[in-house]
Amino acid sequence: MHDAAETQARAARPIRFDDSVRQPMPPERFDSLSQEILALKRKLNAVILAHNYQVPEIQDVADFVGDSLGLAQQAAKTEASVIVFCGVHFMAETAKILNPKKTVILPDRDAGCSLEESCPAAKLKALQDTNPNFWTIAYINCSAEVKALADVIVTSGNAVKIVNAAPKDRDLLFVPDENLGAWVMEQTKRPMTLWKGNCYVHVEWTHAALTRIRQKYPNAPIVAHPECPKAVRMLADEVCSTEKMVAYCRQSPAREIVIATEAGMLHRLEKECPGKIFIPAPTDKCACNECRFMKMNTLEKLHDCMLNLSPQVELPAALLERARLPIERMLEISARPVDNAG
Ligand code: 13P
Ligand code: SF4
Repeated sequence: MHDAAETQARAARPIRFDDSVRQPMPPERFDSLSQEILALKRKLNAVILAHNYQVPEIQDVADFVGDSLGLAQQAAKTEASVIVFCGVHFMAETAKILNPKKTVILPDRDAGCSLEESCPAAKLKALQDTNPNFWTIAYINCSAEVKALADVIVTSGNAVKIVNAAPKDRDLLFVPDENLGAWVMEQTKRPMTLWKGNCYVHVEWTHAALTRIRQKYPNAPIVAHPECPKAVRMLADEVCSTEKMVAYCRQSPAREIVIATEAGMLHRLEKECPGKIFIPAPTDKCACNECRFMKMNTLEKLHDCMLNLSPQVELPAALLERARLPIERMLEISARPVDNAG
């Protein structure tokens, strides 16, 4: 138990965003398939990047596990010859856009995303043509073609900062997540036209389901991803990207914490916040909270893609070049000190 003064001091401490707490798994704890993956990694001079929603055994062999922003930052600075991307297709595509000369492979080419599907480039172009003053802000969960039509990319980890830095004389168009967009509008007070897309996993959480779990665990803070609907975000004690969830949970004095995001997150949290209990927020339908796209990647497919150097992400040179501009703009604004962000 912490006394009130300690609890207050902990709450006041700034949240640190680093990965220093993450300890690599000792080699003797890896099974033989994982050992083969690590041997292939050395042979290929590869780096394995994994999203927080990947299955535990993939997270455990990865060199870096993080949110979309952290993964893009790692991809931008890696010196490895091959990038093995364990996430969904748009994430691997982003790594390729940032590294056009490198080989980027992924365990399953069909690992898509409902947000990406909701926003075809031709439809976006038609909307953009209705207003030449639009400044298009695209959530990273979109295709390379949509990125190429955008002025800047955002992730859930930096969207507020980037929207705050958007030109004041432009009409903001935010695609494709209406929930993240609405949350960013609440934070920044900048009006935006929102594309009507959503994440099919995060819209399953409801006010009623979250109220029930709150009644069961009255002392547990609720942490929710901004892709959740407003009624859920309103109940949450913290709304943030998956990486910021790790930082929040580490410094929270609470022993039990309710997590409203994809279930893969719990492995990362349990590893990095030992002694705390993470309760997956239930939905009205089931308690599985799994993204079927993220879960298409398995350890076997990871092994095979490294063995065969396939499937690879391949994109036309002109598309790579055009899509790189808004991603680089995002990385540049994201790296600015808070006061200079606009
Ligand atoms: P994060 O960038 O917060 O990890 O979110 C990615 C995502 O796909 C959420 O559903
Ligand atoms: Fe896309 Fe939702 Fe899956 Fe994230 S959880 S990859 S937003 S479908």
